Amino acid sequence: MPGLLARLIRLLLLMGAGAAIACLFERGIFGIAFGIALGGCLWLVWDTLRLLRFLDWLRRLHEDPDTSPPRLPAMWRDLALRISRLLRQQTRLTRKSKNRLGNLQAGLQTAPDGIIILDRAARIEWCNQMACRHFGLNAQRDIAQSVTHLLRDPAFVAHLAARDFNHAVTLTAAASSSQLLSVRLCPYGQGRLLLISQDITLFEQAETRRRDFVANISHEIRTPLTVLAGFVETLQTLPLTEDERQEYLERMARQAGHMRRLVDDLLTLSHLEDSPPPGLETWTPVAALLSQIEADARALSALTTGENAPHRLSFPDADALSQAGEIAGAAAELFSALFNLVNNAIRYTPPGGEIDIHWTPLPDGGARFSVRDSGPGIAPEHIPRLTERFYRVDSARSRATGGTGLGLSIVKHVLRRHNATLTIDSDLGQGAYFAVTFLADKLRAVRTETQPSAESPS
Ligand SMILES: Nc1ncnc2c1ncn2[C@@H]1O[C@H](COP(=O)(O)OP(=O)(O)OP(=O)(O)O)[C@@H](O)[C@H]1O
Ligand SMILES: [Mg+2]
Repeated sequence: MPGLLARLIRLLLLMGAGAAIACLFERGIFGIAFGIALGGCLWLVWDTLRLLRFLDWLRRLHEDPDTSPPRLPAMWRDLALRISRLLRQQTRLTRKSKNRLGNLQAGLQTAPDGIIILDRAARIEWCNQMACRHFGLNAQRDIAQSVTHLLRDPAFVAHLAARDFNHAVTLTAAASSSQLLSVRLCPYGQGRLLLISQDITLFEQAETRRRDFVANISHEIRTPLTVLAGFVETLQTLPLTEDERQEYLERMARQAGHMRRLVDDLLTLSHLEDSPPPGLETWTPVAALLSQIEADARALSALTTGENAPHRLSFPDADALSQAGEIAGAAAELFSALFNLVNNAIRYTPPGGEIDIHWTPLPDGGARFSVRDSGPGIAPEHIPRLTERFYRVDSARSRATGGTGLGLSIVKHVLRRHNATLTIDSDLGQGAYFAVTFLADKLRAVRTETQPSAESPS
């Protein structure tokens, strides 16, 4: 208010001065009116000059909000201060919002899922790196592009058109057709959409494995169960001699034994998957491990071939083994894995065949346990799948010899827990070679005093 009054007074003073000068020179009423108008014009020019200074400051203020206002009369100064305070407030708010948006975008960038923000016309407004990877997008180039121009899968286009926000659609990733994505649309704001893509490849693989496992196990159990049920029916309905009864009971016992082995192997696998890997607390002498394997192998060979044509088994020399030192890990697991390989060699090699078992120290401090047999061998196409659960090259032969098809799968798990690797080399008619390589950190030359005592495999 005081500023406005001062402006008015200044205007009146100038107009009054113009009128006074006209009176001084006795210019009559027109001269006085002219003097007043001239005073008013002078005031206008003066005021416009100050307005120009003010506008110039406003322009500079836009570039630098901290620019101090020029020296101006009270009213202009008051206006300048208010504008500059408002601008500073606005700048602070904008900076805060920018920071918040930056943090939000950084958070969304690290999300494990792909995120695309779509505007009302389904054009891309923003997307994170994972979405770029999933759909082969470019976060700069593809902004403002219609999403259906870039995600052309008909299933997605139909899903978007149907505006189905309750279900996800499964698509393949741009980089690899084996990578599966679950894509979901979430509406928000006014007609805007959030597209979320999740990599479900592992989940789908686990689902497939679970389905296969259930199918396999049902099949494995159904076979002996059918046989058992058949024998029970025979025993119940047919008049049998004592010898026949005994024979049927023996066959039933074999089937029951097969089912028990199946359950035992499954429990072993589940235990191997669930328990933490063994550390370096327990050390077992390699000589003890191999002598136990040799004893069991000779017994099994005698059982399968009879006395007439036993396998020609060869084992490492006991003296050499006494230098082999000790191996770290779960002794029972190690025995089970190594004996499984010998067991396979004995069961699949016909009577009279040769089976060589070796323990070879390696130059890097590791060691290799190997089993070579002169059996029928395995065609190369089967080799990569041998460690899969229930995978058998010849199902009939494996079942006939009492196999569950889980042996090499257990071997694989045990070796993984002991950081060891399995190598298989074979061809049809060439026999088979299975080798396990242990790393140097799992072996030691002699037992030291500070380590706990070794245990024997059982
Ligand atoms: N030494 C071998 N010679 C020929 N075939 C072999 C040999 N070792 C394994 N196989 C093949 O690999 C398959 C898988 O072996 P694996 O030990 O996993 O199962 P299995 O021997 O059938 O049953 P089990 O669970 O009782 O060991 C076998 O069914 C067999 O066809
Ligand atoms: Mg086996």
